[in-house]
This record gives sequence, C-alpha cells and structure tokens, in this order.
Amino acid sequence: MELGGVRIFPGALDADARNSVLAAVRAVVAEAPLFHPVTARGRQMSVRMTSCGEFGWVSDRRGYRYERTHPATGRPWPAIPAEVAALWQRFAGPGARDPECCLVNFYGEGARMGLHQDRDEADFSQPVVSLSLGDDGLFRVGGTERGGRTASVWLKSGDVAVLAGPARLLHHGVDRIRFGSSDLLSQGGRLNLTLRVVT
Ligand code: SIN
Ligand code: FE2
Repeated sequence: MELGGVRIFPGALDADARNSVLAAVRAVVAEAPLFHPVTARGRQMSVRMTSCGEFGWVSDRRGYRYERTHPATGRPWPAIPAEVAALWQRFAGPGARDPECCLVNFYGEGARMGLHQDRDEADFSQPVVSLSLGDDGLFRVGGTERGGRTASVWLKSGDVAVLAGPARLLHHGVDRIRFGSSDLLSQGGRLNLTLRVVT
C-alpha cells in the first residue's frame, strides 16, 4: 500500500524473521547501548537510540550529525547484522548502494517522534528503508514542505516502509505508540530500524 507516497509493506517480516531480527538487534544494543539523544536546544528526545554500520546518527548540544563512534563508549558502531542488511537487499530497489547506517529507535511508553525530514545524508537518490517491530506506532506522513496535509497509518510489528524517489524527503513522524499492543518485547515498546546510505 501507499501513504502519501511512502510505500508500506504490511507483514513484510513473518514471526520467525521478526524474532531473528530482534535477536540481532539485542546483540547490537549489548555492544552499543541505547542512549537518550538531546537536541541542539537541549531537549531530551523521548525515544532512545543506537546505531550499527559505518556511521551512527547522534544528536547533542552540537546538533544532529552522523558519527563513526558511539557517543558514550567511544567505540565504532557494530556491523549491520546480516538479517538486517537482507531487508535492504529486498526493499531498497535495483542500483541502491550498500547501507552505511542502521539507526535503531526504541519507543518506550509515551515516546514519540515529531514530524521531520531525513536530510542529514548526502545522497537523496538513495532510499530509507524502515522496519517496525513490537508495539504498534501511529506513523504520520506529510509533504516535502512544513505544514500542509498529512496522512497516518498504524505500523505494526514486521511492517516495512520505504521512503524513496519523490517520497525520500517527505516529512514523517510517530505520534504515539500503543504500548503493550505486541508481545514481541516482553516489557513492551516499539523498535524502529532505518537503513540509510550516509555519504
Ligand atoms: C524515524 O523517522 O527515524 C523513525 C520512524 C519510525 O519510528 O517509524
Ligand atoms: Fe526519520
């Protein structure tokens, strides 16, 4: 299906695939712990994040950027697990470069993400491939400009969304999650993985 230009593949990952990606994400988090990013204006984001791949996305009082090392451990980010890279092969489309970052967002109870564009990457011809795991998230898509019409859909565990071509720079965000709606994570919460080419 399509939502304002974003292609959505409901149930792209079956239960086995969801569990094996989750196990891979747990290994990433063990090596590169989730942290609470702070915006340049000093506000703590409600999601917790980490990354894997050559680059990770970070935000602190100096602003948003990609870095080669984890802000707390100082170590390089772990490699993108094969199960996760396979998603890129499946959804990025022909001619896509290899992914250089997989951002992992964790939404606990009450977490959200305001409408934004993904524009810290250098090459907007490359898609963003996004996987939802765990609790349902209300995903909102707007236009390339701020303001204007938006449309929303509940993303469920195993759904994939692709921002590519004319949809690459659409505003998007997550208004809220339905905490406890999925039993994938025993403590509840939503994970979102986004694969990107950074350079
Ligand atoms: C993001 O835009 O980085 C996250 C989107 C989502 O959580 O579905
Ligand atoms: Fe985003």
